[in-house]
Amino acid sequence: MGLVKESIRYERNQSPRLVDFTDPLGFARKATNYVFVMEYHEDAWQNPRIAPYDTAIAQLGLTAMSAVFHYGQSIFEGLKAFMQPDGEVALWRPDLNAERLNRSVRRMSMPKIPVEETIDAIEALVDHERAWVPNSEGGRSLYVRPFMFATTPEMGVKPARDYAFVILVSPTGDYYPSGLQGIDVLIQYSDDPSQITRRTCYGGTGEAKCGGNYGASMQAVETAKSRGASQVLFTGFKDPNKTGRYEEYLEETAASNFYFVTREGEMVIPTWDGTILRSHTVICLEELASGGYLDISIRREHVSLKQYLRDVQEGKVTEAGGIGTAAVIGPITGHVFQAFSPLQIGYNVFQDGQRLGIGDGQIGPVTRRIREEYIALQRGLRGHIERDKEYHHIVPKRRRSL
Ligand code: COI
Repeated sequence: MGLVKESIRYERNQSPRLVDFTDPLGFARKATNYVFVMEYHEDAWQNPRIAPYDTAIAQLGLTAMSAVFHYGQSIFEGLKAFMQPDGEVALWRPDLNAERLNRSVRRMSMPKIPVEETIDAIEALVDHERAWVPNSEGGRSLYVRPFMFATTPEMGVKPARDYAFVILVSPTGDYYPSGLQGIDVLIQYSDDPSQITRRTCYGGTGEAKCGGNYGASMQAVETAKSRGASQVLFTGFKDPNKTGRYEEYLEETAASNFYFVTREGEMVIPTWDGTILRSHTVICLEELASGGYLDISIRREHVSLKQYLRDVQEGKVTEAGGIGTAAVIGPITGHVFQAFSPLQIGYNVFQDGQRLGIGDGQIGPVTRRIREEYIALQRGLRGHIERDKEYHHIVPKRRRSL
């Protein structure tokens, strides 16, 4: 048995709030009563505990000098627990999150946590808060947000010596209020690549799930909102096929990976090359498709912005969407341009503020089918998935001492 299972302590919340599933649940809006906390001091993780939500962070004794407030050593994860038809609660592939967490901490010079310890910690909190797991209708779940940040009160620019690892949970529904209606997504374009807002770049932190990537995306997302779009499709100025010609290539949105569907029904996802987060939903879809659990063909490809827009315009792209834990598989039904220079695609010249619709403007049949099937699998409506991977990680009921 590891640290978490051996020595976890439970602290009582003296003024718990009532379980609240009031609709619309939205994305992680409601606090529950407890969080998991453990601390890293003197080169070791220690003192794992389930502590009251309202006071747990204050008890860490953060001060104005705490490193997290200054140099951005802060990473997070996101996964979901689903109520199963037999009343058990199952985490969906927590191993992928525990492994990615360690990729992120490596990039940010933070301390690793053994994969089993992260899963034990998640299990312990979800078990303790199981009353907050909603029924899984429509894909509702308990969202689980593990995060780690630097706590050492020192102002030198160097990796901190002390950290906190915290997990919170929150009952969750659709990420976008528009649900299945689809969203518009902003695309920035300029002849001058220095004018485009980047989320990250080669050699940056794009693969790490660090707070800074999300902070860096917000200015463009605000621009998108001011133009009636909900998100941004970030691009990278690259030459991934080593042709000697740099141009804008599709990356991802601020809150999820991106995909589109071809007229032939194939799903195309921009290749991960260091600037895109390694989405677990993408990994799961590929595994499920190759295992015969999902009927979809998926292709990874470096996709140039101009080629993509040409294909949308010519009807070769029939659907697009966001793909990720929070967004699941959600439709994108159009692009709005922020064009610093006119953008010529075929015979059309797109100007600043113009919109390009995708398909017929509704959720497409492939997106609908894959989304419904994926959620049904997560909810356990298709039985247990028999593969070498444990898709439904049943949360054991523990005896606890309060
Ligand atoms: C998730 O999909 O879990 C994420 O972490 C995206 C989030 C930033 C909304």
